[in-house]
Amino acid sequence: MNIELVKQLVEGYGPSGFEDHMRDIIRPFIEDYADEISVDTMGNLIARKEGDGSGLKVMVAAHMDEIGVMVTHITEKGFLRFTNIGGVFPVTLAGNRVQFADGTMGVVYSEKRESRTEVHGLDKHYIDVGATGRDDCPVSVGDAAGFYRSFRAQDDFLVAKSMDDRIGCVVAIEALQRLESTPHDVYFVFSVQEEVGTRGAEAAANGLEPDVGIAIDVTTTGDTPEAATMAVELRAGPAIKVRDAGMIAHTGLVRLMRRRAEEAGIPYQLEVLEGGSTDARSIQIAGPGAAAGVISIPTRYVHTVSETVDSGDVENSIKLLVEVLSKPIEL
Ligand code: CO
Ligand code: ZN
Repeated sequence: MNIELVKQLVEGYGPSGFEDHMRDIIRPFIEDYADEISVDTMGNLIARKEGDGSGLKVMVAAHMDEIGVMVTHITEKGFLRFTNIGGVFPVTLAGNRVQFADGTMGVVYSEKRESRTEVHGLDKHYIDVGATGRDDCPVSVGDAAGFYRSFRAQDDFLVAKSMDDRIGCVVAIEALQRLESTPHDVYFVFSVQEEVGTRGAEAAANGLEPDVGIAIDVTTTGDTPEAATMAVELRAGPAIKVRDAGMIAHTGLVRLMRRRAEEAGIPYQLEVLEGGSTDARSIQIAGPGAAAGVISIPTRYVHTVSETVDSGDVENSIKLLVEVLSKPIEL
């Protein structure tokens, strides 16, 4: 796994709907490996790898966008009120930093609280960009910011904002780079607007009408103190999704992924996620429907500025995707 690629992707700016910069970061890493690269109207970056004609049409999706905030109002004294872009939890906010497209940095904090354990909703938080009033405020209503935190690799313990889903983008990019030949016509879609309802993947899948759809995304784990019960844990390999709140994975595709992992000696676990979904949901029910599944990267602290993955799990996710794409897919 290319750690420099991870750093560039996770530190990049790209809240849902504002992914232009992420497209520019990803493009140089895929250019030499794809037979064709295009950008559709919504902004999905699509890299096609041509097959030998004997296989299926496969769409691989990893989303480029990240959760963030959007300015709704600027107070007379220059503080910003905001709303969420995607799943932003109030407990993750106070003292954290956000960054706008032009690099402007802001500190998030909340109004006074009655007790130390009280947490306000988003409407009682604000962003301080150092302005003294509306006139010298460098941002406008409608501007979007992503959270801002640098990447750290402590041996195999990788911590960053936006592992969701830039680490999925890393898996897709490295799988494309390592995929020497494939029977399938493979479309690697770096999708937009996943965090606001898997919108980019829906448009892409309607356009491409793939036979098979595989999303690469993060999933939560149940291996931390008093966590919600879940079988997935860090360092036990990629999780092959069986179901989440938005989809039941195609059983034939789940069987095939498990078989490919076993044949190649890749550790894996099975995932049942009770909340949330991925681009695979959109792909599954777009057009005439597709056989859809997900390779999930086990991730702690999802939707915080310290999303945490294990580099071995990432490496094994790349290997599993290459195994699936380089061989016939019998469903
Ligand atoms: Co997410
Ligand atoms: Zn995601």
